[in-house]
Amino acid sequence: KETKDQFIIDAGQKHFGATMCKSCGMIYTASSPEDEMQHVQHHQRFLEGIKYTGWKKERVVAEFWDGKIVLVLPHDPSYAIRKVEDVQELVDNELGFQQVVPRCPSKTKTFLFVSDEKKVVGCLIAEPIKQAFRVLSEPTGPESPNSKESSRAWQCSNVPEPAVCGISRIWVFKLKRKKRIARRLVDTLRNCFMFGCFLSTNEIAFSDPTPDGKLFATKYCNT
Ligand code: ACO
Ligand code: ZN
Repeated sequence: KETKDQFIIDAGQKHFGATMCKSCGMIYTASSPEDEMQHVQHHQRFLEGIKYTGWKKERVVAEFWDGKIVLVLPHDPSYAIRKVEDVQELVDNELGFQQVVPRCPSKTKTFLFVSDEKKVVGCLIAEPIKQAFRVLSEPTGPESPNSKESSRAWQCSNVPEPAVCGISRIWVFKLKRKKRIARRLVDTLRNCFMFGCFLSTNEIAFSDPTPDGKLFATKYCNT
């Protein structure tokens, strides 16, 4: 216990202001013992959560120079399901989602992007859907565009359009963004979601997108 206290005091003398951890990506104030403690906790949980040891039976659906995409299905061995649950917990934490029970757990498909450093650095969770509502416009009105609540209140059409596949989560590790990992996950999903056909961008829908999610989707779908 003593050594830990000492460590915090030392860190406090060396670093002021915000620091970003180069392995877990958390931004914290190294001079604040409380922040430092939160970081230590998050750091261990996060790195443990994204650690990928490799499985005897894994469904590799795409391979790249910097990693591979592994597909996990609901009836896979429990070690695979557990990894998906751990990753989803980290993702939901970051997105501020409450535990959302998937509508159709037996049909959920989870795609994990595993980096060559054996870490899950991307995750896409998809489920079959029948219809979707198009996002019409940015929220308008007097609310501050930066406030968290208004930033998710996109105007949606009330005319349902047919869709096939809903993306309930898409996430890329903070330190690996803008490397086309999300794009490759969606490409792979379109290729693998229904046997024998490549889904068009009209057939996939992003559920409840965050501002990041919407920017990505807009770019990806060229709308
Ligand atoms: N702002 C502007 N453009 C963006 C953004 C952004 N935040 N994110 C991606 N893009 C654009 C890129 O510029 C890129 O364009 P290009 O291919 O012409 O160069 C294109 O979208 C593809 O980007 P990728 O590199 O494939 O995206 P990335 O791997 O960085 O992942 C993601 C994007 C998943 C949204 C990531 O930023 C993330 O995990 N954010 C936090 C979690 C989140 O909000 N997820 C969406 C939740 S919504 C839902 O789950 C349904
Ligand atoms: Zn860290």
